[in-house]
Amino acid sequence: MLMRLDRFLCLCDPTLTRKTSKKLFSDGSVRVNGEPVRDAARKIDTDQDKVTVGAKELVYRQYRYFLLNKPAGVLSASRDRKVKTVVDLVQGIGDDFFPVGRLDKDTEGLLLITNDGALAHEILSPRKHVPKTYIALCRGTIDEKAIASLQNGIDLGDFTSAPAKAVVLAGEGEDTTIALTITEGKFHQVKRMVVAVGSEVLTLRRVRMGGLWLPPNMNSGSCVERDGEELKKILFQDGYEDDEERFLRRYL
Ligand code: URA
Repeated sequence: MLMRLDRFLCLCDPTLTRKTSKKLFSDGSVRVNGEPVRDAARKIDTDQDKVTVGAKELVYRQYRYFLLNKPAGVLSASRDRKVKTVVDLVQGIGDDFFPVGRLDKDTEGLLLITNDGALAHEILSPRKHVPKTYIALCRGTIDEKAIASLQNGIDLGDFTSAPAKAVVLAGEGEDTTIALTITEGKFHQVKRMVVAVGSEVLTLRRVRMGGLWLPPNMNSGSCVERDGEELKKILFQDGYEDDEERFLRRYL
């Protein structure tokens, strides 16, 4: 793709300001195929030309994908002038990035941030049935009958939840931690399902979408960039582990 050099620089490194990139051109730090270029308007071929700034080679990716461990208290929305959003937690990305779907403000865990609308659309499509696993701390006891209801589907008034996977991970104190895997993404779905079986969600964390799992040791609020091709493969896989329950316990 042909592109102006100054635009290419900003796309590769959105932290650059007009002033800082101007300086890079004027001091000869920007090189195309080894030759210093001082003309910011020069057109380059993003597939052919090698652009470096100092010792660093700039690689252009039209679409980028970040896996964020969303903390509670941050809004799942695109950038907003008034409130802090999940997009603000990813350093150096532009205003065209957005979260793939939404987690409630008080929900934590796995959230993808991207500028790839087509992939987001595919992941969120109800027809794709991408499984999402949540770890929910629920008030009181979640007994076998409640687990069976969660698994079989529950009439929530405006819709009946599709068959799900539910398992108790811990429940020795007053409250119970369950893992619930659903293939839909209706508003407040997990919270509503848990209320329907006579309990209430106290904390909620998403740990899986398709075959993509949240790294169990990932710090809250941190993010990691993922390769698009690899991501596309694993998102549409089932993602079940052989010993899934033991795997899920790593999140306790
Ligand atoms: N279900 C909920 O109730 N809340 C979320 O944030 C995600 C799923």
